[in-house]
Parts: sequence; C-alpha cells; structure tokens
Amino acid sequence: MTYETILTETRGRVLLVTLNRPKALNAINAQLTAEVIAAATAADADPGIGCIVLTGSERAFAAGADIKEMQHLTYAEVYGRDRFSDWDRFNAVRTPIIAAVAGYALGGGCELAMMCDFILAADTAQFGQPEIKLGVMPGMGGSQRLTRFVGKAKAMEMCLTGRMMDAGEAERCGLVSRIVPAADLVEEAVKTATTIASMSKPAAMMTKEAVNRAYETTLSEGLRHERRVFHAMFATEDQKEGMAAFVEKRPATFSHR
Ligand code: HXC
Repeated sequence: MTYETILTETRGRVLLVTLNRPKALNAINAQLTAEVIAAATAADADPGIGCIVLTGSERAFAAGADIKEMQHLTYAEVYGRDRFSDWDRFNAVRTPIIAAVAGYALGGGCELAMMCDFILAADTAQFGQPEIKLGVMPGMGGSQRLTRFVGKAKAMEMCLTGRMMDAGEAERCGLVSRIVPAADLVEEAVKTATTIASMSKPAAMMTKEAVNRAYETTLSEGLRHERRVFHAMFATEDQKEGMAAFVEKRPATFSHR
C-alpha cells in the first residue's frame, strides 16, 4: 500500500513506521491517523512481523492532533464522527509496538506515544498535554493514560498548565523506559524491536496482553488471567522449543507457533 503521511520500512521481522508530515511537525490529521492504523493492523496480520517501531523526526515525534483540521468543527461534527475512536483499532494491535520519541510529543503526539507498549526517548524528547492552552483537553487518552503512568500530581499539573516534561523527568516518573542519545534513537529502537521479534510471537503477544491487563482489572483478576495464559503457552510449539533449547544448551529457533 502507498502512504503519503508515513514512511514504512521492513527490517527483518521489524516494521519501522516513520511519521512524515515535516512541515506540520507530524501533526496528526485524518490521513495520518488512517495510515498509521492501516500500517499497524497490516503488520499485526503478518506473521513475518514480530515488532513495530513508531517514530517521528528529530524535531518532533508529533506536535499533536492537527489544530488546523479541527479548528472549525462543530460539536455535532466532532461527536458524530468521533474520529479519535479510530485509535481503538491501533490499541487492538497485538504485536508489540515501541514508540521512539525525539523532540516534541505533545497533545495527541504524547497520547499516541502512550498508546504504544513502551516509549524509548531521545535526550531531546519533550512530552506535554498542552490542549488546555487551546481551550480544550486531551481527547486521545491523555487524561487517563498519563495519570496511570506518572500519577495524579504530575498528570494533573501537566494537563492543567500545559507544561512540558523533558526526557529526564519522563524517565524518572516512569513515562519512558529509558533515554538514548538522539542520534542513536531509531537504531536503538530497531535493535530492541529485533530482540522482541526474535522471541516467540505467541509468547510476546500473550505477555503484552497480560501486562496491559494490569491497567484494566483488579490484582486478583489480573493474576488469574496471567496464570491461565501461562498454562495456555504449553500448547505452543515455541514453549517446547524454548525449553528444549535451554536444556540442550543451544539457541532457540522459534517457529512463532
Ligand atoms: C497543526 C501544527 C501543529 C498542530 C505545529 N504545527 N503543531 N499544525 N497542528 N498540532 C505547525 C505550525 O502551525 C507551523 O506551521 C509548523 O507546524 C511549525 O510549527 P512552529 O510553531 O512554527 O514551530 P516552533 O516555533 O518550533 O514551535 C513548536 C511547537 C508549536 C512548540 C511544537 O508548534 C506548538 O505549540 N504546536 C502546537 C502544540 C499543541 O498545542 N498540541 C496539541 C494539539 S491539540 P506553519 O504553516 O505556520 O509553518 C491535540 C488534541 C488531542 O493534540 C485530542 C483532543 C482534542
């Protein structure tokens, strides 16, 4: 498929998706939304892809939803179209997704990064939910995910003042998994994705599902879910291969089944 607002590149079992609206700092318009979701869902259906990396440019991961596209919408149009609910299909992707963030991740950009399974940040990354300055509020999950990830105090301050958080603060409060030099960001993200993609795909998908369950349910339900999924893994070829390889002191070769 040909895309106009993103670039896609397959590197082994990794799909690298680069947001590519440089003149608008990768602002998320309807077309970019549709293309990111199409690329991610296609990769999810492809057994040859084991991990997705989503990145932007050095200057901006994404500076938010496209303000110029939204500016004149009426309540009836926003409510009727409910465009941000399209991201439910991105959130249903079962293949692990890494956000590699350099520069601005603001508003919908911060929210898109948080929809990924974890965020690798360049030392230049800046996170923020500045919607309040536009007379609105986060609409792609920011008030919910940011609060779960960094706690109420920081989320409330960021959403109410619009102040940005730099990479160091984001790492300290658990928003990002780690910080890498900006020049190494994409390579490091692809390297990490390659590690994930080399694992059993069913095991990676079930692990993603179980970790995400921790945000959706009680501890006892989450633990029950984890145990049931763990039991189910003994029906996979990869469990037999992974454990046999350990016992035989050789690298595992997973069939992703
Ligand atoms: C549309 C945007 C944009 C956006 C930047 N641009 N952000 N266009 N939507 N979210 C455009 C600018 O209009 C400009 O286009 C070009 O990108 C470069 O931006 P500058 O402002 O000239 O760059 P700079 O001075 O370096 O400032 C960078 C910036 C600033 C701090 C990131 O652009 C900024 O504050 N952007 C808006 C951030 C924001 O409010 N995001 C939240 C959006 S609302 P021209 O044509 O002038 O060169 C949102 C809602 C989520 O995300 C869902 C709930 C509603």
